Amino acid sequence: MSLLTAEANETVKAKGAIPMENFVVRLGHETDVPVLRDLAKKVWSVNLSPLRASSKDFIETGADQFFGVVAKNKAFTILILEESDTQEVAGFLILMLDFVEPLTLEKETYFMDVVIDPKYWGKSLWKPLFKRAEEMARERNNGYLLAMITASNERSLATFKSWGFEIERYQVLKRLD
Ligand SMILES: CC(C)(COP(=O)(O)OP(=O)(O)OC[C@H]1O[C@@H](n2cnc3c(N)ncnc32)[C@H](O)[C@@H]1OP(=O)(O)O)[C@@H](O)C(=O)NCCC(=O)NCCS
Repeated sequence: MSLLTAEANETVKAKGAIPMENFVVRLGHETDVPVLRDLAKKVWSVNLSPLRASSKDFIETGADQFFGVVAKNKAFTILILEESDTQEVAGFLILMLDFVEPLTLEKETYFMDVVIDPKYWGKSLWKPLFKRAEEMARERNNGYLLAMITASNERSLATFKSWGFEIERYQVLKRLD
């Protein structure tokens, strides 16, 4: 079964000094999962917490489990950025559009995972994905965008801050060794 219903593709002119002129943001489907999983495996290590006993094995098995759940659960929305001529996947953003803040019960859109292929890092190619996600959140009258970022992942934090995200809470952890 396809994860998502069809929706008109949106062509986004990515701005600035990027290697290709046109990228398309489209909804992802279950058939995209193998490509997304392989892309995630390339970069997930940068978002792993140094406080946890995670390993390379975790990335292998964790990515399989994660995308297995995402592909079958309608609570998740996948946005894919692809190069319009070659259809090469340059990155993706996984959203929970109907997330509810546990304390205040406000509706918000949760940016669960964003990945850009490292060969495109430094070119702001995440912006068309964030732009489309924000439009979808506004269409649903959601009041906020939310994300969780591992403290050591300074590049990701800088990325989200440059889109207007602010630090809301600290997640604290104690290892029971
Ligand atoms: C997060 C990600 C999507 C951002 O895409 P990108 O192409 O690297 O982003 P850009 O280079 O356009 O912008 C990165 C920002 O971080 C800054 N930055 C780069 N390296 C940095 C570092 N080591 N420390 C702090 N900031 C850094 C850049 O200056 C830029 O900030 P600015 O827009 O204020 O100038 C991409 O790096 C990625 O896929 N990371 C791996 C997956 C991941 O960590 N996802 C987030 C999970 S929450």
